[in-house]
Amino acid sequence: MTDLAESLERLRQRFSAQAEAAIDERELDSLRVRYLGRQGEVTQLRRGIGTLPPDQRRDAGKAINDVVAVMEGRLAAASAALQARSFETELASSIDVTFPARKARLGSVHPVRQIIERTCDYFMRHGFAVVLGPEAEPEYYNFDALNIPADHPARENFDSFWLSDGLLLRPHTSPIQVRTMQRYPPPVAIVAPGKCYRRDATDARHLFQFHQVEGLLVAEGIHFGHLKGMLEGLCRELFGRRQKVRFRPSYFPFTEPSAEVDTTCPKCSGAGAPQGTRCGMCGGSGWIELGGAGMVHPNVLREVQYDPETYSGWAFGFGAERLGLALYDVDDIRRFVTSDPDFLVALS
Ligand code: PHE
Repeated sequence: MTDLAESLERLRQRFSAQAEAAIDERELDSLRVRYLGRQGEVTQLRRGIGTLPPDQRRDAGKAINDVVAVMEGRLAAASAALQARSFETELASSIDVTFPARKARLGSVHPVRQIIERTCDYFMRHGFAVVLGPEAEPEYYNFDALNIPADHPARENFDSFWLSDGLLLRPHTSPIQVRTMQRYPPPVAIVAPGKCYRRDATDARHLFQFHQVEGLLVAEGIHFGHLKGMLEGLCRELFGRRQKVRFRPSYFPFTEPSAEVDTTCPKCSGAGAPQGTRCGMCGGSGWIELGGAGMVHPNVLREVQYDPETYSGWAFGFGAERLGLALYDVDDIRRFVTSDPDFLVALS
């Protein structure tokens, strides 16, 4: 290797190492000046060409030009790498406020709880107190005190889960009526939500564990019109202004007279069989059954030491899930208990 070739190779290696280590454009510029500038090292070598024998000058010039080309390539590559790095640092240290946010995963209040809360709110605004009661009750509160004697066939309507010691899981919230009246003298005005249990086979309309909202008002001069007014008001509050309520004569041992309460089917708006098809929600009747109601039976008042000659009252017990079917246009009651987040969030 000639002297020139050797010096060029060393120079190139030194230059490459320095170009690679440069941390900014200013350093690259000063390298360019130091090696390739007018007083630069390469220029010095180029000046030496004149001292060579004429037959070597062409090759020397070419060798220098080749190394210059390599060095310029290195400078360009180092500068591009520096630019890329500075863009990345800038990105990492800045916040892009236009970037779409990640959606927050919010919980929601369960639809059945929403119904219970809205129902309780309505009654609380009318001066009612919210009362709770135990889920395991003795027969006395579930039946006897509610005018359902041991051999009465009405007990069969409340097919129950029996526990030990004569206790059962309450099949309705009506025991809370008795507990409240035994504890407080008249007048009383309560609303009592809670879980109930019946040995029903589960299907689209039945759950073995469900919720009822009980209502009770006992005072002087209370009549059936008060009951109708309050329940119509509740349905209008829950379903909207145009909701109708229907009272069908019925029988409960603890109320007289008694009624089943229905509300217009929100799916077919009471039409039952719109355009010749049977409404899937109400089965074609145009009505959804919400629960039972009536005037508190004098025997129940007597049992709790209220004088039926002075006091009268109404009571009702609605299924919260039944209200939910009608309110949310749900065709299967089991959807309330299968914990499907999409269903639950859609109703929140
Ligand atoms: N307890 C009754 C039931 O569960 C409903 C009801 C409550 C009826 C209050 C009348 C008065 O079927």
